[in-house]
Amino acid sequence: MINERQWERLKRAAVGARARAYAPYSGFTVGAALQARSGEVFVGCNVENASYGATICAERAALAAAIAAGERDFVALAIASGAKRPTPPCGICRQCLAELSRELPIRSFTEHAHTDYALAALLPEPFGADQLD
Ligand code: THU
Repeated sequence: MINERQWERLKRAAVGARARAYAPYSGFTVGAALQARSGEVFVGCNVENASYGATICAERAALAAAIAAGERDFVALAIASGAKRPTPPCGICRQCLAELSRELPIRSFTEHAHTDYALAALLPEPFGADQLD
């Protein structure tokens, strides 16, 4: 489990990434910050596309950045949005995060509030490599 200071650092990283989101179609900007066990933090933002289905969420963008840097082991994910209430990750992102971290603690922030989630509770039965045997 990460401590409150680390959550604050992750929140700042997610808020910073949110400011760089490309969301001209929905206007809903999201930032995410994923902390690896090494201590490194990787950020992502949503990147929309005129072909709407090609959009990538902030959480998966952060995951891709971390994987590209060689990280596979994650300890926490912060999400920042401008929604009225903190938002959980979407179903596709839950599945992607569960590929490597079934137990990931997630904290979702709005400007004045946050909510804690556990990936294992948000997606109790992910499809996994074990099903491919
Ligand atoms: N979005 C995210 O980036 N993360 C989520 O967890 C939910 C949705 C993005 C996708 C799209 O660009 C916009 O928010 C509205 O759905």
